[in-house]
Amino acid sequence: MRPQREKLRHGVELAGMYITPPCRRRGFGRALLEAAVAHTRALAGVRQVKLGVNAANAPARALYQSLGFVSYGVELGALLFDGRFHDEERYLLRFEALA
Ligand SMILES: CC(C)(COP(=O)(O)OP(=O)(O)OC[C@H]1O[C@@H](n2cnc3c(N)ncnc32)[C@H](O)[C@@H]1OP(=O)(O)O)[C@@H](O)C(=O)NCCC(=O)NCCS
Repeated sequence: MRPQREKLRHGVELAGMYITPPCRRRGFGRALLEAAVAHTRALAGVRQVKLGVNAANAPARALYQSLGFVSYGVELGALLFDGRFHDEERYLLRFEALA
């Protein structure tokens, strides 16, 4: 998702990463994320990608960290599902930090 507001348009938000359970741990998640980042890098004027992940989601956090995403904070109680609040960790990937 790319914001419309001029001061925010250099940053896009990634959401909806999902691999069906039988296909997990076979490299598809990494391939999907790499493709999404490559696509985003090709967009004129885009300099960074942000995303949020359930702070208890160890597989997804490991995947994002392995591609260079850096945590910049946790929003307590940001997510509400199954009648409970869950913390969301925020991640940022700045293209200038990549080779
Ligand atoms: C997170 C998700 C997209 C990963 O997809 P995947 O295809 O299984 O991931 P890959 O096989 O490409 O693995 C890439 C890396 O993710 C991490 N990872 C994936 N599954 C993991 C697990 N069960 N435990 C720990 N790390 C894991 C590892 O760092 C892994 O690298 P490695 O294989 O070199 O150790 C997948 O588990 C998923 O769809 N989960 C449910 C939805 C979700 O949580 N989406 C993210 C919302 S922000």
